Amino acid sequence: MPETASTKKSVRILPESLINKIAAGEVVERPASVVKELLENSIDAGATDIHVTVKNGGKDLISILDNGCGMNETDAQLAVERHATSKIIDENDLFRIQTLGFRGEALAAIASVSHFELLTCEDENSGATRIFIKGGYLEQMGKIGFPQGTKITVERLFYNTPARLKFLKTTATELQHIQQHLVQKSLAHPHIHFRLTHNRQLLLNLSGGQQLQTRIQQLFGEEFKEILMTVKHEETYLQYSGFISFPSKPRTSRRWQYIFVNDRNVKSPAVNHGIYGGYGTFLGKGQHPVFFLNLKIDPTEIDVNVHPAKTEIRFRNSQLVHTILVDQISRALKDGASRRFFGREHSHSQMSRTEISGQIELPMEEALTLESQYSGMTFPKRKKRATESRELPPRGALKGKHSAELSTFAAEKPLTEISPVEQRRQNYASAAILEASDSTPDNLPEHGIRNLRFLSPLPQIPQEIRVLGQFRKTYIMAENDAGLLMIEQRALHERLLYDFYTEALQKKEVALKSFQASLLIELSPQGSVLLEQSLEHLELCGFAVSPFGGSSFAVNTIPEIQHVEQVEKVIRGIIDRLALFGKRSQAEEIIRDICEVVTTNAALPAGQELSLTEMGILLAQWEEMGSPMASLKDVPLLVEFSTQELERRLKR
Ligand SMILES: Nc1ncnc2c1ncn2[C@@H]1O[C@H](COP(=O)(O)OP(=O)(O)OP(=O)(O)O)[C@@H](O)[C@H]1O
Ligand SMILES: [Mg+2]
Repeated sequence: MPETASTKKSVRILPESLINKIAAGEVVERPASVVKELLENSIDAGATDIHVTVKNGGKDLISILDNGCGMNETDAQLAVERHATSKIIDENDLFRIQTLGFRGEALAAIASVSHFELLTCEDENSGATRIFIKGGYLEQMGKIGFPQGTKITVERLFYNTPARLKFLKTTATELQHIQQHLVQKSLAHPHIHFRLTHNRQLLLNLSGGQQLQTRIQQLFGEEFKEILMTVKHEETYLQYSGFISFPSKPRTSRRWQYIFVNDRNVKSPAVNHGIYGGYGTFLGKGQHPVFFLNLKIDPTEIDVNVHPAKTEIRFRNSQLVHTILVDQISRALKDGASRRFFGREHSHSQMSRTEISGQIELPMEEALTLESQYSGMTFPKRKKRATESRELPPRGALKGKHSAELSTFAAEKPLTEISPVEQRRQNYASAAILEASDSTPDNLPEHGIRNLRFLSPLPQIPQEIRVLGQFRKTYIMAENDAGLLMIEQRALHERLLYDFYTEALQKKEVALKSFQASLLIELSPQGSVLLEQSLEHLELCGFAVSPFGGSSFAVNTIPEIQHVEQVEKVIRGIIDRLALFGKRSQAEEIIRDICEVVTTNAALPAGQELSLTEMGILLAQWEEMGSPMASLKDVPLLVEFSTQELERRLKR
């Protein structure tokens, strides 16, 4: 047999320090894992106030201060040893764990790859203990003045494991991981006051004593306004409570999905598939629900000891858990839908606030109130009268063939008489025959396209056009008294949003979404220079972006029409535009570019199926705006086939 590395050398027992480093590799992957472990210890210690302080994404310093039960000197000394825990005693305990920690590994693992200081006090009369460990070796121990609770400070993480150190990512990335743990823990424990300070900047300050609903609001602001419904289920085997999104409001990412089992945030295929199963065909391909679900189950029914980072659990009867969730979630969604449908005597906004019990109520929009040198700027406005818009296409004159087409349309199109509301509704209903499964205007919030709500008051019935249907999921087919119209739906939506957004901008009333946990973006050096030069313009447009060290930026607010999932893409898109035109003195142009990038991304995606109601609303809003004929890119929004032309071509 050829000699390999393993056959050459004799078997030997590894030294303790190396064993610790290997074990630490499993527990401590990056600064965020230290934060996670220390947070869990503080929570297990019954803390109601936890303050996490980090420097440079935790690479230089992580410190966690809590007001939990603390430790006496003997326990403190033991706590930093491997396999030392107060949380389990024997094997039986391993299968009924009620705490987040149980292995007695974390502190020893962290202390073996850092400079580690523990200050802890169980009883102020007996004084506090200080222990300092460097790379796993005890350096100092003594008495110190410190109030009840514990403070652990970890500096120079991985200083003695260079290979690990090399794998650390940028400050922004590491900080994002840390934030994510804070978000998870704070959702699982809304009664606890959490703070996160980074490089002396307070990033999170979540007051304690809250319910889950308020915590979601603290963290995500307006993001989930009007999209979540309460769910609650109680039976002996399994209880759960929390919030799930209405089926009509799916997301394109799984990012906002939180499962807590006995207050531990976990990944669980059984729960996950159960929830998706409950949504069933409500969800299309690539669509994902938002959920914050708290499950309670007898601890003997789960095994939490299946993953080194304790992020997974196994259910003894996962099939049962799955079945309960599929049944109950699907029932809750159907109940929610029928409650919405039958509550029609109320207006939509009333319904969404009062009739659907438990729907999260979040505060009203903040208006952007910025005084600046740009306040006198002009933007294309929403036109009120049709004639105006035809005379004055808002984004530059239409050229050549297009303008000819448009003016023909304008000249041939007589104004239709405005029919009474009832009759208009009937027209609308007769059009609905073309699309058997379509919704009526009254249950719109269930089916509404995101962003349409921004054009308020929401007109539902176009007055001069009747929707006939949709062609290739791209064009709205409609008729007016002059003939047949094909309107490009995406370009139309983009145009509506643009005009709405710029009008709000001009009035300094841009509605905002703000985040408690800033979104961090890492840019190239060139990108960061460009962005830095445009921070003021961005702020006018509703983006609060601030430099975050190096070429990282923190985004704290975005305009409400912007989808959260696309923030990074939009900021990068804006930078591309800025780069394209080089340094420009014209602030107006820069703002126009920002508005275009935002609305292009906020508009409905290509090839989206629309209901007759939705198409009706788009056209009604278009009319409301004065029926502009040009898209944002100065090409026609629609083509018209006049009745005369059709007849001529058909040789009638
Ligand atoms: N912030 C704290 N307040 C009070 N006691 C603490 C704190 N942190 C740790 N301890 C004590 O130190 C012990 C060891 O902590 P450590 O995190 O190493 O292990 P564990 O939490 O028991 O298990 P695991 O390795 O799964 O986290 C704990 O069992 C607990 O008794
Ligand atoms: Mg622990």
